Amino acid sequence: MRYVWDGSLATGHALIDEQHKQLFEAINDLLKNCEGGTGKEELKKSLDFLNSYTIKHFFDEEVLQKQYGYPDYPNHQKYHASFKETVRELSHKLILSGATDDLTLEVQRQIGGWLVSHIQVQDKKVAAHIKSQAAK
Ligand SMILES: [Fe+2]
Repeated sequence: MRYVWDGSLATGHALIDEQHKQLFEAINDLLKNCEGGTGKEELKKSLDFLNSYTIKHFFDEEVLQKQYGYPDYPNHQKYHASFKETVRELSHKLILSGATDDLTLEVQRQIGGWLVSHIQVQDKKVAAHIKSQAAK
Protein backbone atom coordinates (compact mmCIF):
# COMPACT_ATOMS: atom_id res chain seq x y z
CA MET A 1 0.00 0.00 0.00
CA ARG A 2 1.00 3.64 -0.45
CA TYR A 3 0.20 6.78 1.48
CA VAL A 4 -1.28 9.67 -0.42
CA TRP A 5 -1.18 13.18 1.01
CA ASP A 6 -4.45 14.92 0.20
CA GLY A 7 -6.43 17.94 1.38
CA SER A 8 -7.81 16.06 4.38
CA LEU A 9 -4.28 16.06 5.82
CA ALA A 10 -3.60 19.75 5.22
CA THR A 11 -2.83 21.66 8.41
CA GLY A 12 -2.74 24.96 6.53
CA HIS A 13 0.84 25.68 7.60
CA ALA A 14 2.99 25.71 4.45
CA LEU A 15 6.27 24.42 5.93
CA ILE A 16 4.61 21.70 8.01
CA ASP A 17 2.48 20.52 5.07
CA GLU A 18 5.49 20.48 2.74
CA GLN A 19 7.49 18.38 5.19
CA HIS A 20 4.58 16.01 5.74
CA LYS A 21 4.40 15.39 1.97
CA GLN A 22 8.11 14.62 2.00
CA LEU A 23 7.60 12.21 4.90
CA PHE A 24 4.89 10.36 3.01
CA GLU A 25 7.27 10.02 0.08
CA ALA A 26 9.94 8.65 2.40
CA ILE A 27 7.49 6.12 3.89
CA ASN A 28 6.30 5.07 0.41
CA ASP A 29 9.88 4.66 -0.69
CA LEU A 30 10.55 2.44 2.32
CA LEU A 31 7.41 0.38 1.64
CA LYS A 32 8.43 -0.02 -1.99
CA ASN A 33 11.75 -1.43 -0.82
CA CYS A 34 10.03 -3.67 1.73
CA GLU A 35 7.60 -5.12 -0.79
CA GLY A 36 9.71 -5.16 -3.89
CA GLY A 37 12.43 -7.41 -2.57
CA THR A 38 15.12 -4.87 -3.45
CA GLY A 39 18.55 -5.34 -1.93
CA LYS A 40 19.60 -4.51 1.61
CA GLU A 41 21.48 -1.49 0.32
CA GLU A 42 18.32 0.18 -0.99
CA LEU A 43 16.39 -0.75 2.13
CA LYS A 44 19.08 0.75 4.33
CA LYS A 45 19.15 3.94 2.27
CA SER A 46 15.41 4.47 2.63
CA LEU A 47 15.58 3.77 6.38
CA ASP A 48 18.45 6.24 6.83
CA PHE A 49 16.54 8.90 4.98
CA LEU A 50 13.32 8.28 6.94
CA ASN A 51 15.18 8.41 10.26
CA SER A 52 17.02 11.63 9.47
CA TYR A 53 14.07 13.36 7.85
CA THR A 54 11.81 12.46 10.80
CA ILE A 55 14.34 14.01 13.18
CA LYS A 56 14.61 17.15 11.03
CA HIS A 57 10.85 17.54 10.65
CA PHE A 58 10.09 17.07 14.35
CA PHE A 59 12.86 19.51 15.24
CA ASP A 60 11.41 22.17 12.92
CA GLU A 61 7.89 21.57 14.20
CA GLU A 62 9.02 21.79 17.83
CA VAL A 63 10.88 25.05 17.15
CA LEU A 64 7.61 26.48 15.79
CA GLN A 65 5.69 25.22 18.83
CA LYS A 66 8.13 26.89 21.22
CA GLN A 67 8.21 30.06 19.14
CA TYR A 68 4.42 30.38 19.29
CA GLY A 69 4.02 29.18 22.89
CA TYR A 70 2.01 26.07 22.01
CA PRO A 71 0.46 24.99 25.33
CA ASP A 72 0.53 21.23 24.62
CA TYR A 73 4.19 21.28 23.59
CA PRO A 74 5.41 18.89 26.37
CA ASN A 75 2.99 16.15 25.31
CA HIS A 76 3.56 16.74 21.61
CA GLN A 77 7.29 16.40 22.15
CA LYS A 78 6.68 13.05 23.87
CA TYR A 79 4.63 11.78 20.91
CA HIS A 80 7.51 12.75 18.62
CA ALA A 81 10.09 11.09 20.87
CA SER A 82 8.22 7.82 20.97
CA PHE A 83 7.70 7.81 17.20
CA LYS A 84 11.42 8.46 16.61
CA GLU A 85 12.09 5.44 18.87
CA THR A 86 9.61 3.33 16.88
CA VAL A 87 11.31 4.25 13.59
CA ARG A 88 14.71 3.44 15.09
CA GLU A 89 13.60 0.07 16.47
CA LEU A 90 11.82 -0.98 13.29
CA SER A 91 14.88 0.03 11.29
CA HIS A 92 17.07 -2.26 13.38
CA LYS A 93 14.66 -5.16 12.92
CA LEU A 94 14.46 -4.57 9.16
CA ILE A 95 18.22 -4.46 8.80
CA LEU A 96 18.63 -7.60 10.89
CA SER A 97 15.99 -9.82 9.34
CA GLY A 98 15.16 -8.11 6.05
CA ALA A 99 11.65 -7.02 5.10
CA THR A 100 9.38 -9.85 6.24
CA ASP A 101 5.60 -9.59 5.73
CA ASP A 102 5.14 -8.98 9.46
CA LEU A 103 7.67 -6.15 9.55
CA THR A 104 6.20 -4.57 6.42
CA LEU A 105 2.82 -4.58 8.15
CA GLU A 106 4.42 -2.94 11.18
CA VAL A 107 5.83 -0.20 8.93
CA GLN A 108 2.32 0.43 7.61
CA ARG A 109 0.66 0.49 11.00
CA GLN A 110 3.26 2.00 13.28
CA ILE A 111 4.83 4.46 10.85
CA GLY A 112 2.32 5.25 8.07
CA GLY A 113 -0.82 4.83 10.18
CA TRP A 114 0.69 6.70 13.11
CA LEU A 115 1.65 9.67 10.94
CA VAL A 116 -1.82 9.95 9.39
CA SER A 117 -3.56 10.09 12.76
CA HIS A 118 -0.86 12.30 14.33
CA ILE A 119 -1.33 14.86 11.55
CA GLN A 120 -5.12 14.72 11.72
CA VAL A 121 -5.33 15.09 15.48
CA GLN A 122 -2.17 16.75 16.80
CA ASP A 123 -0.54 18.71 13.99
CA LYS A 124 -3.80 20.34 12.97
CA LYS A 125 -4.08 21.68 16.54
CA VAL A 126 -0.53 23.03 16.32
CA ALA A 127 -1.18 24.80 13.01
CA ALA A 128 -4.45 26.27 14.30
CA HIS A 129 -2.61 27.62 17.36
CA ILE A 130 0.15 29.15 15.21
CA LYS A 131 -2.47 30.77 13.00
CA SER A 132 -4.32 32.25 15.97
CA GLN A 133 -1.11 33.62 17.49
CA ALA A 134 0.19 34.99 14.19
CA ALA A 135 -3.10 36.89 13.73
CA LYS A 136 -2.54 38.81 17.01
FE1 LIG B 1 3.86 16.67 15.14
